[in-house]
Amino acid sequence: MTYQQIHKYSIDTPEQFWRGQASKLAWYKQPTTILRNNSQQPSGYEWFADGELNMSYLALDYHVEQGRGEQVALYYDSPVTGNKYAYSYNQLLEHVARFAGVLQANGVTKGDRVVIYMPMIPEAAIAMLAVARLGAIHSVVFGGFAAQELAVRIDDAEPKLVISASHGIEPHRLIPYKPLLDQAISKAKHKPNATIIYQRINVPEEKQVSCELHKGFDIDWQTAMKSAERVMPVAVASTDPLYILYTSGTTGKPKGVVRDTGGYATALSYSMKAIYNLEAGDVMFTASDVGWVVGHSYIVYGPLLAGCSTVMYEGKPVFTPDAGAFWRICEEYKAKAIFAAPTAFRAIRKEDGNADLLQNYDISHLETIFMAGERLDPATFEWVCNKTGKPVIDHWWQTESGWPICASPTGIEKMPVKAGSSSLPVPGYNVMVLDDSGDPIAANEQGNIAIQLPLPPGCLTTIWGDAERFQKSYLEQFPGYYASGDGGYIDSDDYVFIMGRTDDVINVAGHRLSTGEMEEVVASHPAVAECCVVGASDSLKGQQPIGLVIMKNGVDISPDELEKELVALVREEIGALACFKVAITVSRLPKTRSGKILRNLVRKIADGKEYVVPSTIDDPESIIEIANALAKTKLVS
Ligand code: COA
Ligand code: AMP
Repeated sequence: MTYQQIHKYSIDTPEQFWRGQASKLAWYKQPTTILRNNSQQPSGYEWFADGELNMSYLALDYHVEQGRGEQVALYYDSPVTGNKYAYSYNQLLEHVARFAGVLQANGVTKGDRVVIYMPMIPEAAIAMLAVARLGAIHSVVFGGFAAQELAVRIDDAEPKLVISASHGIEPHRLIPYKPLLDQAISKAKHKPNATIIYQRINVPEEKQVSCELHKGFDIDWQTAMKSAERVMPVAVASTDPLYILYTSGTTGKPKGVVRDTGGYATALSYSMKAIYNLEAGDVMFTASDVGWVVGHSYIVYGPLLAGCSTVMYEGKPVFTPDAGAFWRICEEYKAKAIFAAPTAFRAIRKEDGNADLLQNYDISHLETIFMAGERLDPATFEWVCNKTGKPVIDHWWQTESGWPICASPTGIEKMPVKAGSSSLPVPGYNVMVLDDSGDPIAANEQGNIAIQLPLPPGCLTTIWGDAERFQKSYLEQFPGYYASGDGGYIDSDDYVFIMGRTDDVINVAGHRLSTGEMEEVVASHPAVAECCVVGASDSLKGQQPIGLVIMKNGVDISPDELEKELVALVREEIGALACFKVAITVSRLPKTRSGKILRNLVRKIADGKEYVVPSTIDDPESIIEIANALAKTKLVS
């Protein structure tokens, strides 16, 4: 069948389509009910309601049973430490089954939450799979987040245990995870029963950090593993949550995206062949982090469900040691697919514009280069295509969807790609462009990107502890549709062009951040009367936040000092990954007469784009001041 036929089949008869996909998984109990309405569910429907399975079983034990025990499941490659390991399916299963034993011995049972705050080391994946083995729910927090952000997530997920490591290793500094965790726990209202800490002693001496464990509360990973019992997988219902993953919304409070088990397993398995054209034995290199959805889906679960070998890379695209790092990985592990954010390739291009380093490596096993996380700009697309000679596929998805919404489905039919487009809706997704009143609009016209309900399996089922927010955020704006928060258009060949967010979410180096959250932090400074934060275009990171601030009258601080303190405050409260490096004091902000800050206008001025001064503006002079202030500021990556 062609892509078009398969897509149509999936939309016209979703139950038949997904029954076929689900039947390929080794469920403990095959579902007989595929899609059913259920008013108890926040979305109003559910997938595979009577199915039972275990994700850790499907990702590990199943492959051992199929004779793949000696095949590599996970390659760990860490240029920041010099360490490289390969875990076979047998070995990974052994670690996971025993670590599940450690968790069980410390009281973790089905439905309990476990927060994981770890660097990109195999133990992070082992922890995720071990939590899943017990039918518990993990919530991985990206290591670049500061203690306050971790505390917010601990309070929301209320974990029984937190799993962490002594420290993380960035190219130019060490990240003290354990002290950050201690701070987070003391800030949080909810207190976990215990922590499990992996001490990174197996790294070069200058990269070691000794971390003190508190007796009776902190458990040493390595010691606990010595006496651990292997644990068998626990069967869970398809609709039971596998994980909560926090993502930025428009307010200061992150959204805890809830992922079910059966729908996710089915969708990921399907995507591995249909989108990435990968099968058992193939190697996938996803250059992301387990703290992001891309890491959950295509470093850990997707490749392991498919019986592939996954590459877990603790390094950067550049400077660890150079811009040839990705090509080296592709050669060394014979990767058939690489998946990274466009910003990573922009960084490579900046350092090695002629791609001279690529000549040192044999990337003949590489079939396709996938990119997502932000818009793939045509210049980067052309550069990667030309230098590698490989097909480059931009595909669009979100933490909420858990797997791609639009792509060129290379395992179904290699559809031609168009620069600037993330190609075609993936089977299962009925993507539409709606105007602000919810009516579909014509081809090539920009509007709100929405997906007709029901969403396919694998997408979020609710927001943890807040079904009302789930409905308000995604389902109320356009009844019958999921509102994606992205704007764009569909051309006359059905290709989807995602042009950017329609809300206050920004994308910095492929990391999703909320300007609303940054505004809350900036506004908390005692010298700040009012502020706004917008995402301005950046040639390397896609976007960079900039803050415009009005000082309170009579405060005893210079504008320079305040600007420095605000930069430090956002780094302290949200984390280095926010890349908040520019705060500018001004005497007024452009507002409408009703008092709404014209953020869109500020963004256009910052980007040097043409703008029209709205007739509703309260104080047109404010624009001149903002334009002058922004012109004086050099935005540097
Ligand atoms: N733990 C702790 N700190 C982290 C971190 C982590 N896992 N990841 C990033 N940081 C820190 C960095 O050290 C940096 O700190 P600094 O301000 O002290 O330099 C800060 O957060 C900003 O990091 P980043 O935006 O990544 O900038 P960079 O200059 O270190 O690297 C790129 C630039 C383009 C190479 C890098 O952003 C990159 O590889 N991006 C790809 C992102 C990606 O894969 N996203 C996945 C979504 S699909
Ligand atoms: P995240 O939830 O962190 O994966 O971020 C999702 C957001 O990143 C989307 O809503 C988009 O704004 C953006 N995004 C992801 N992939 C793409 C893409 N291929 N093209 C354009 N924007 C993208």
